[in-house]
Order: sequence, then C-alpha cells, then structure tokens
Amino acid sequence: MEIALQDVGQAYGERWLFRHITAQFRPGTITAVTGPNGSGKSTLLRICARLAAPVEGKVTVTEGERPLVKADYRERLALVTPELRFYPCLTAWENMSFLLGLRGQELSPACYSELLSRVGLQEARLRGVLAGSLSTGQRQRLKLAVLLASEAQGWLLDEPGANLDASGRALVMGEARKHAERGGLVLWATNDEREEAAANACIDLGRSEAGL
Ligand SMILES: Nc1ncnc2c1ncn2[C@@H]1O[C@H](COP(=O)(O)OP(=O)(O)O)[C@@H](O)[C@H]1O
Ligand SMILES: [Mg+2]
Repeated sequence: MEIALQDVGQAYGERWLFRHITAQFRPGTITAVTGPNGSGKSTLLRICARLAAPVEGKVTVTEGERPLVKADYRERLALVTPELRFYPCLTAWENMSFLLGLRGQELSPACYSELLSRVGLQEARLRGVLAGSLSTGQRQRLKLAVLLASEAQGWLLDEPGANLDASGRALVMGEARKHAERGGLVLWATNDEREEAAANACIDLGRSEAGL
C-alpha cells in the first residue's frame, strides 16, 4: 500500500495550516510528521486516513497499480490517536474484543495473552480490571496491543509515545520498526527529536510556512 500526497493544503476559515505538501509514503518506511502544537500534524494524519478532505491538492492511495478506496482502504489502515478512548466500564479484554470486532476480527484468548505480554502488560493483573482504572500509560500500551492485533498495513500514529515511560516509547518505536521491516507503512506524528531521528523521512509542518 502506498499513500501519495500531491500539493496538499488545509485551511480552517481564513487560516492556512499548511500548503504544498507533496510526499509519498511507501511500504517499509517510517515517516515522522513534526511541528509545534497546532501546526496540523493530527489534521494531516486525518487527511491521510480520509477522515478529512484537504482544501486543495490530492490524496491517492494505491496497492500495486490499483487505487484503494472506501472499505478496502479502511481495512488496511489503523489510526491510533490520543482521542481514542476505551469504554471505562469494560475490561481490557472486552474493549479489545469490541474494537477488533468492528474490524471483523475475532480475538482469541491465546492471542490476547501473547499481545499483552508483548506490550508489557500482565494479563493476570488485568483480569477483571476495568479500562477506566488503568493508568494513562497502561491504556496507551493497550492501544498498541489493539494496533498489533489489527493486521493493518498502514499505521497512522498520532503521538504514540505520549504518556509512555522510556521503555514504553522504545517499545512503540521497536514495533513500528518491525512493522516497516515486514513491509508496513508508518506515519508518525511526534514532537520528540529522538522519534524523529528514528524515522526514515520527515515532514516538518513547522517549516512548511515557507510554502504559505
Ligand atoms: N475541524 C476543525 N475545524 C476547525 N479548526 C480545526 C479543525 N481541526 C483542527 N483545527 C485547527 O487546526 C489547527 C491544527 O490542529 P492539529 O492538526 O490538531 O495540530 P497538531 O496535531 O499539530 O497539534 C488547530 O489550530 C486546530 O484548532
Ligand atoms: Mg495533534
């Protein structure tokens, strides 16, 4: 799967957030989207996910030569954002089964167990615990578990290192790198220089003012 942006610009009201963004996101690469708060990182990810249409420019998603649209695209894509909330009165298992169910996937107990240990959460300690009583960092790790279970090829990650300790940030970066090595595509909105340095390419929206 490949996502191509051609001369993309977004504005709300009179104000341009960014303009003239031309980029290609290819399998096997991690691209960092950087810039200060309010520069449009989350907006750019939403445009790539086709949750928002840009005011100008074109977004093309292809697989081989074939354009990917609608359900086909959604199936191959996972967008993880700080806005994603778990149901606080459901357990980790229930939340994860529900979210994967929306993608038409079933979660087996063995897979759940393996994923939890992979993201550094202990299944035994989470049993019966409601998502609402998990720490912010634990919920962030649970989001990573859902992402890993999703089998999506395209990962759009909005500040995935936020609220995580050093080992959590290393874990997310390591999983993103493995995903890219398996031929996945990763777009990573971040403010962290180390995360930016670990990416293969970078789109700096803070500097895109040159194009305004
Ligand atoms: N749907 C919207 N309507 C109006 N303004 C928006 C909308 N979405 C984002 N914005 C504005 O666009 C700017 C960029 O937002 P965002 O993409 O969330 O930035 P970042 O993720 O870089 O912090 C903000 O000033 C925000 O208020
Ligand atoms: Mg943001």
